[in-house]
Amino acid sequence: MTKTVHVLNGPNLNLLGSREPETYGTQTLADIEAQLAAICEAHGAALIFRQSNHEGELVTWIQEAGKAREPIIINAGAYSHTSIALIDAIKGTNAKVIEVHLSNIHARESFRHHSFISGAARGIIMGFGALGYELALTAILSEMAKSES
Ligand code: DQA
Repeated sequence: MTKTVHVLNGPNLNLLGSREPETYGTQTLADIEAQLAAICEAHGAALIFRQSNHEGELVTWIQEAGKAREPIIINAGAYSHTSIALIDAIKGTNAKVIEVHLSNIHARESFRHHSFISGAARGIIMGFGALGYELALTAILSEMAKSES
């Protein structure tokens, strides 16, 4: 059976590349998707990579992955700090989630220090820019390989 990994991106991450490059780097979301797609291909895994500026759409995608028992890498952007709906979707479908942030949210404004997602996440990677997505994917693929053996 093909392993599927979902990568979900929240609001304003479509602007990566030009958005505050001193904080978020210069790689675009398409660059990140291409890197993850190459890693997935090398591991025989399928990648579902999505971005939305709409909270409800993210809720629907979390539910979809959670119900399918497929792991999620999520950078929920600003919704990390505000959304009870996202955490309810994660808990409600028992979704396995790795939380990613490009920046170290604890080294930034205090309103970014709390993430609703963190309490339900399998793990959290932040502060490594686009590399964080690759680290999260490596962790997921490694855990999937172990659970198969
Ligand atoms: C972010 C951090 C959030 O505080 C911010 O709202 C984002 C991006 C990050 O990847 O560092 O949109 O999630």
